[in-house]
Amino acid sequence: MADLGFDGKVAIITGAGGGLGREHALLLASRGAQVVVNDLGGSVTGEGGDAGPAERTAQEIEGLGGVAVPDTSSVATPEGGEAIVKTALDAYGRVDIVINNAGILRDKSFHNQGPDLVDPVLDVHLKGAFNVTRPAWVSMREQGYGRVVHTASNSGVLGNFGQANYGAAKMGLVGLTRVLAIEGAKYNIKVNALAPIARTRMTEELMGAFAEKLDPKLVSPIVAWLVHEDCPVTGEVYSAAGGRIARFFIGLTEGYFNPELSLEDVRDHFDEIRDTEGYTIPTSSGEEIGGLLKHFS
Ligand SMILES: NC(=O)c1ccc[n+]([C@@H]2O[C@H](COP(=O)([O-])OP(=O)(O)OC[C@H]3O[C@@H](n4cnc5c(N)ncnc54)[C@H](O)[C@@H]3O)[C@@H](O)[C@H]2O)c1
Repeated sequence: MADLGFDGKVAIITGAGGGLGREHALLLASRGAQVVVNDLGGSVTGEGGDAGPAERTAQEIEGLGGVAVPDTSSVATPEGGEAIVKTALDAYGRVDIVINNAGILRDKSFHNQGPDLVDPVLDVHLKGAFNVTRPAWVSMREQGYGRVVHTASNSGVLGNFGQANYGAAKMGLVGLTRVLAIEGAKYNIKVNALAPIARTRMTEELMGAFAEKLDPKLVSPIVAWLVHEDCPVTGEVYSAAGGRIARFFIGLTEGYFNPELSLEDVRDHFDEIRDTEGYTIPTSSGEEIGGLLKHFS
């Protein structure tokens, strides 16, 4: 089969000055995409700013014969999101792909997480995806084509100590992914999420012995596939780490039904309620509700 290309496609990649975003940008550009390399250039905790990282990735792409433009707006405000999309429209006249990847960390156990730790994390990860995707969505709807990837995390999908702010933001992105997949369907806009594990400046002190195996470059192929024209799925969540790609899904157990349900019924049937044998994977809230009909009719 032929290699996959992105000729004629314009991609916005946020947080692409380093780490995972830089790898995504290099891969897409090497396959012909015109890339907006967005990065505020701050610290891991989201302080400060520096045009250097965005400019360096864009220059690297151009040096390799690709096409890229740097952008240093913050994803954390609606104005920043508008500016990033404007950079794409001014430079290349369209936007086909948004990879929401920018991120910061402000970890502490929950009782110590005040608004100074919670608000910036929600602003960059969760609201950042709204801020950038919304203005791009307008173009995508009009052109009847779009691909979006949200960078979630196993810290949200599965939980991780000290990351209440981050985990909530990341799982919020899964909800956003699910809804946008439904809303985008009739415009050929596909929206999926990624839960990566990779050695970057954000994680280098946490990875331990596995660090050398977790090259961020190995995460980019699934991202590129999810934003490719041929991508067959929408509303899904993929795990990517060190060359292993897998799918996270939200399953629903068969459950227990009793039209006169009591508190004691719940206690007495709790194993049955939790039993994963015969689970289903509903693709929308409507599908869950539809599944109740067999009990009600
Ligand atoms: N590395 C991992 O193992 C891992 C695991 C799960 C999720 N993630 C997520 O992957 C994404 C990329 O992280 P990374 O590991 O490459 O770390 P990184 O720190 O190298 O990259 C994040 C980039 O986002 C940029 N950024 C931060 N705030 C911004 C803002 N307001 N506007 C624009 N850019 C901003 C930073 O300058 C930085 O270059 C993040 O969303 C992170 O939460 C990473």
